[in-house]
Order: sequence, then C-alpha cells, then structure tokens
Amino acid sequence: MSDNKIFLSGIKPTGDVHLGNYVGMLRQMRDISHAHKTIIFIADLHALNMMHDADAVREYTYHIAAIIMSLGFNMDNVLLFRQSDVPAVCELTTMLTNVTPKGLMDRAHSYKAATERNIAAGNDADLGVNMGLYVYPILMAADILLYNSDIVPVGADQKQHVEFARDIAGHFNTIYGDLFKLPEPQIMPDAGIIPGLDGRKMSKSYDNTIPLMASGGELKKKIMRIITDSKTPDESKDPETSTIYMLYRHFATADEVADLAARFRSGGLGYGTAKTILFEKLDSVLAPMRERYDYLMTHRDELDAALAQGASVARKIADKTMSRVRHVMLGTKK
Ligand code: TRP
Repeated sequence: MSDNKIFLSGIKPTGDVHLGNYVGMLRQMRDISHAHKTIIFIADLHALNMMHDADAVREYTYHIAAIIMSLGFNMDNVLLFRQSDVPAVCELTTMLTNVTPKGLMDRAHSYKAATERNIAAGNDADLGVNMGLYVYPILMAADILLYNSDIVPVGADQKQHVEFARDIAGHFNTIYGDLFKLPEPQIMPDAGIIPGLDGRKMSKSYDNTIPLMASGGELKKKIMRIITDSKTPDESKDPETSTIYMLYRHFATADEVADLAARFRSGGLGYGTAKTILFEKLDSVLAPMRERYDYLMTHRDELDAALAQGASVARKIADKTMSRVRHVMLGTKK
C-alpha cells in the first residue's frame, strides 16, 4: 500500500560503501522507495566534522549518488540531492539553535562517545571535538524538518538523533505554533550479523570491509582473504561460525542457503570451494549494479545533472518552509 507519508534519509559521504551498508540500510531504503515518496540526500555538510579534504568530500559524494542511482531504487519516487546545494538548511539550523536546550546536545550519543573515549584515554574530555560534531543533531533536525518528513528510517544507533529532531520540533511548535510535523524514527529491522573479512562486524574502522562496488577481480581477491579456521576439506564445519556462510546468507535464496549449510555440515566442502561459491553468488547480484555505477562514475555530467535537478526541487520545498519559519520567528512577510 502506498500512502502519502514522506520518508527521508541522509547518507554521509565519508568512505566507500560496503556490503554491510548495503544489507543493513541501502537495500531496505530501496524497498521503501518502491512504496513511498523517499527523500535521500548526500549529507556532505555532516561529513565536515570529520573530513577536511574537499576533494575527498566531492568524490565520495559522487560515489554515493552513483550508488543510489544504480541499486534499483524507484527513482520516480525518489528525490536525490546534495545537502549543501540547499543552503536553507544552514539557515534553519541557526533558527533551531535558539529553541534547542543545550542539555540535549550534551546528551547526544555521538558527542558523549567522543568525550568518553577521551576521558578513558586520560585526555581532556573535549580533545578533538569540534562544534560541528557537538551541534550536529541540530543540523540533522534541520534536514528532517525542512522537508516535512514523516518517517526517518535509521539504524538503532541513529534513533536518538531522530528523537532529538522531534523534541526540537516540539519546542519550536510550543513557542511559535504548530509549524513542523513531528517526525518519527523507523528502526530498520536488524539484518543480523554482517561479518567482515576477519570475522568481526564489517566496519570501516576495523578495515575489514568488502566494498559494494569492488570490481569482479577485487571482489574475488577480498573473498579469498576471508579468515577461516584450519579444518581440512573433509571435516564437518559449523556454518553459523563461518564468515563465508554468514555473508552468503544475505544474498542467496532460502534453498541455496539451506543447501550450503548442509554441505558445510556433511564435510567434503573445502573453504576454497566455499569461497568460490560465495564469490559467484555475490558477483551475480552485484555485477549489474556495478555496471551502471561504473558508467555513471565515468559520466559525471549525468551525475551533476541529476543532482542539480534534485536540488532545484529540494530548494522549492525548503523555500516554502523557510518563509513560514521567518514569518513566525522574525515577523517578516509570508
Ligand atoms: N547522521 C546520519 C548518519 O550518521 C546521517 C544523516 C544526516 C541523516 N542527516 C540525516 C540520517 C537526516 C537521517 C536523516 O548516518
């Protein structure tokens, strides 16, 4: 069923998208886009609190844009744009700072994690913490409120930030009248463990990722590097403790998964063969997306045109919101 609810999500252009991002978030966003109006923006302003290299911000921005345009989203329902192409979000951030209690920012997970790490290491609590990190929940609230979002699909780690956006909208509405919709977080169903090459959770910070858009050759190399135990081909193996099987599960059909599990248990399947099975499955799913992605990354003019078109639609929505906000806060004409 399709309703009129607006879904919104932002993706920070801070690194190569990997299989964990795809299974945990992008694939689910793609499904949402087939049923709902979906706003997806590339959160380049958010990247600035950790990235001070403009070339890298631009390249990762193209990377994310090309990925969104390659994964099979229903682009008729999607509004895709670059956050910084709509400067009104900065204006709304400034406006919202004035109704946001400071205590809310002190409690933000992202800021608290940074200070706790510093304290544990015996350093000053605010070492390396810039104001971008500290107030980033307000920028995120502005992202959400500017475009009248109803639902914000996020991983569990981002739930608090969406609740902050709702709180901030509530404070605003109490003072100035009901202007903002109160957005709701929708926690993405946990996709289960997505292990990286070393068996720990796939994460950029562990340097154990498999990039979603790796070439066929790179993909194969990465898979061959997956760490296994030293069981011989003949021995029976527990699929649930094997990174190979745990990855395969997310891409194969239920029958194929059951079949591989049985082959692990019965013995006679060596890790080399299992890796080849995993590679072939992944490659069959990813190759068509990769082809479109590679095309777009070598046709930047098409990416620029898509982002420009998205920005022009986004700016119209933003301008409407801002003229109402300026009116109620500053007394200017509507
Ligand atoms: N903070 C999100 C993250 O770190 C990215 C983001 C920025 C976002 N603005 C948003 C997500 C608005 C949802 C809605 O992944």
